[in-house]
Amino acid sequence: MEKIKVAVIGCGTIANSAHIPAYMKNDKAEIRYFCDIIPERAAAAVEKYGVGRAVADYHEVLADPEVEAVSVCTPNFMHSVIAVDALEAGKNVLCEKPAARILPEAKRMLEACDRTGRILNIGVCNRFHDSVMRIREYIDEGRLGEVYHVYASFRNHRSIPGLGGAFTTKAIAGGGALIDWGVHFIDLILYCTGDPKPLTVSGTAFSKLGRDMRSYTYKSMWAGPPDYEGTYDVDDSVVGVVRTEGPVISLNGAWAQNIGKNEMFIDFMGDKAGVRLDYGGHFTLYTAEHGALVEYRPDFEIRNMYELEIDSFLDCVRSGKPNRADIHKIIHSSEIMQALYDSSDLGREVVI
Ligand SMILES: NC(=O)c1ccc[n+]([C@@H]2O[C@H](COP(=O)([O-])OP(=O)(O)OC[C@H]3O[C@@H](n4cnc5c(N)ncnc54)[C@H](O)[C@@H]3O)[C@@H](O)[C@H]2O)c1
Repeated sequence: MEKIKVAVIGCGTIANSAHIPAYMKNDKAEIRYFCDIIPERAAAAVEKYGVGRAVADYHEVLADPEVEAVSVCTPNFMHSVIAVDALEAGKNVLCEKPAARILPEAKRMLEACDRTGRILNIGVCNRFHDSVMRIREYIDEGRLGEVYHVYASFRNHRSIPGLGGAFTTKAIAGGGALIDWGVHFIDLILYCTGDPKPLTVSGTAFSKLGRDMRSYTYKSMWAGPPDYEGTYDVDDSVVGVVRTEGPVISLNGAWAQNIGKNEMFIDFMGDKAGVRLDYGGHFTLYTAEHGALVEYRPDFEIRNMYELEIDSFLDCVRSGKPNRADIHKIIHSSEIMQALYDSSDLGREVVI
């Protein structure tokens, strides 16, 4: 069967660590273009992988009728613009998470998907994580009983990424800890619990520890060194409660808090059993059997979720059928994050 011609738009960290290697490994796909506004990045990808052409303007990619699918791996502020243009040009799109900076941008993407009838997936890679998929099966089978509350903790001890750079500039990223990390946690909870509709959100997003940039003392500074002349106008921690048609979701997240130890887990609380997912790893199930409290930890191989995500995207391109990462499902994560930021600004609960 003929290979699907793809293009990767934005050749930075996630493109090089996930999308490009996954396409290279997949015999259904052939990379035709590497596109980056920094020409050396696109050229470096051509050199490294020995395929494709380097271009700087994504419109050139979209003008090629042979290109069927594109990965959008640019910073958040370009997601909506490029994804809508690509859909309008008849391409199928896998756009990195979060869908967009704000809900109206994500809705424009969804509308373009409806209008063009093309595939629009969001890079919510955890939907393809072996632990997450198993937890969903456990919940679907009723092993946990009624899952009435899910709690997510994604908290780090002083590790704001690239202080003063793209991650901490609202106009580029749309938000901080919530939009960057929270999106993964919120989305995987929605997936495991059957994509329930969100109803109300109450929360507060704090911008505290990074605000005085020069005095911020840090443990880790992933995504580049500090730029003290840059911008810091995003949340470095967040707390919230979300009511849905399914469970209540509560969350406590932070790039930076004054805590001694990082925490990255999700507790699914059911009336028959509970599950703790160690984010990115395995999970433990807690229940009672024959009058005894028991816990067990299933052991299995965790495959590369990005490869599974891209394999599934290519299947969608071939079949024309949406999958679990389709924008119509992922829009709920955007609704929740928007409502949480709105709730924080308004100081009250927001009805979705
Ligand atoms: N799914 C995940 O686990 C995961 C992990 C990291 C990042 N991400 C997401 O991936 C996206 C990119 O993050 P990153 O860390 O790779 O950033 P990055 O800065 O390393 O790479 C982004 C690249 O896009 C290029 N770019 C910007 N505007 C462009 C345009 N108009 N046309 C072509 N190229 C353009 C930049 O020059 C840069 O090389 C973000 O949305 C981020 O949230 C997802």
